[in-house]
Amino acid sequence: MAEGIPITRNPASPEHSEKIRAAVRAAVRMNDSRLATPDDAPGLYALFAEPKVSAPIYSLPRPLTEASVRAFIEDHVAQQERGKGLLFVRDTGDGQIMGYSDIQVWPEWAAGEIAGGLHPSLHSRGAGTQGAALTFSWMFEALHLDLLCETASLENTITQRMLDGMGFARMGQVTSTRPDGTTRASLVWEMTRADWAKRIITG
Ligand SMILES: CC(C)(COP(=O)(O)OP(=O)(O)OC[C@H]1O[C@@H](n2cnc3c(N)ncnc32)[C@H](O)[C@@H]1OP(=O)(O)O)[C@@H](O)C(=O)NCCC(=O)NCCS
Repeated sequence: MAEGIPITRNPASPEHSEKIRAAVRAAVRMNDSRLATPDDAPGLYALFAEPKVSAPIYSLPRPLTEASVRAFIEDHVAQQERGKGLLFVRDTGDGQIMGYSDIQVWPEWAAGEIAGGLHPSLHSRGAGTQGAALTFSWMFEALHLDLLCETASLENTITQRMLDGMGFARMGQVTSTRPDGTTRASLVWEMTRADWAKRIITG
């Protein structure tokens, strides 16, 4: 559970909130990723079972089993119907899932968060930074968000470098609760639509 975020909470108008919910409900693809379905449970379980993927992410199912991953996917299908969440996967076409993106949306604040990971064979080659930049642009454009809020554990140097390098602003620290009730400290970053647009224009 993501308590305490986003840090910035500017109320969105009812029309804007509804536009966001409608965009979440209508989403089918995000760049090179597609929506996850319950049939993806074995492939997604295999990705999450990689300690390098699951260790830094507080929101993954715990205990981690194929059944809990199926329930995680089904919960996201229900979140999409409520206009509040999306789960995307990137697959190789043969059942292997090479990456996932878990988007949480707060329509009332026009804000969103994304957690995600790549298969360890793709780490540390710049693919994460490149994919994250496209994902952030998609969230601002396709979902009509005004604010992105991101978290990372104190040990997650790669994500910290990625967010600092992309110009996200450090906003302090919160406690994140995993599905099994255990907690961890999370650093928090935010990026506004206006600052992201400036960054894209100025490169
Ligand atoms: C987070 C993740 C998507 C980043 O993607 P990536 O392709 O591995 O990262 P990049 O190669 O783009 O590198 C990002 C930054 O980390 C640095 N970095 C990469 N590997 C590193 C390592 N092993 N040690 C220290 N820094 C490292 C890069 O130099 C870059 O920083 P810079 O721009 O200041 O040079 C990917 O590592 C991942 O899936 N990790 C597991 C899940 C996770 O942590 N998700 C994020 C939290 S939700």
